[in-house]
Amino acid sequence: MATVEIIEGDITLLNVDAIVNAANCSLLGGGGVDGAIHRAAGPELLKACIPLGGCKTGEAKITPGFKLPAKFVIHTPGPRYKDGKHGEPELLASCYRNCLTLAEENHCETVAFPAISTGVYGYPWAEATQIAIQTVLSFPTKNIKKVLFCCFNAQMKELYEQGLANNSKTA
Ligand code: APR
Repeated sequence: MATVEIIEGDITLLNVDAIVNAANCSLLGGGGVDGAIHRAAGPELLKACIPLGGCKTGEAKITPGFKLPAKFVIHTPGPRYKDGKHGEPELLASCYRNCLTLAEENHCETVAFPAISTGVYGYPWAEATQIAIQTVLSFPTKNIKKVLFCCFNAQMKELYEQGLANNSKTA
């Protein structure tokens, strides 16, 4: 089982094998972490995304990281939160699972996730954090040695730390 680490910072600066991009279905960039990753990776990232033909919510596609310190970017559109009764929890969990699957297939040892769907897509932070942690902890890793949750602010980091503590208690 991979170790899980919670950090606060800018995911574009992380020197890991793969960073996950909270993208949209077009894969043509946007705001938030998507915008930050495209800016840091440079224009080649968009050029690599265009032929991918978009990505369904909950699925994931991989590209090189180009100018980023990370070798790969794994793009995954999270669900836009409505009321939690439109499949959002399952779709968010599948984002984490499909990203880890792609990371395994590409022999990544370290993978960093942002808090998918908790910004523009409005997912309540506590629920999204629970799904992220439970899905990652129950994923059978082989090549992956470390998963980092890269929080962009102290409040989110606190939620992840509490969530991890609660999950390891119940594990
Ligand atoms: N590093 C790490 N985390 C970041 C960074 C960064 N540089 N920038 C933003 N975040 C955090 C936000 O604080 C939030 O917790 O990433 C999380 C996800 O927020 P968004 O980037 O808004 O992504 P999301 O809620 O999944 O919405 C996706 O927003 O940017 C557009 O193109 C994107 O349409 C898509 C939608």
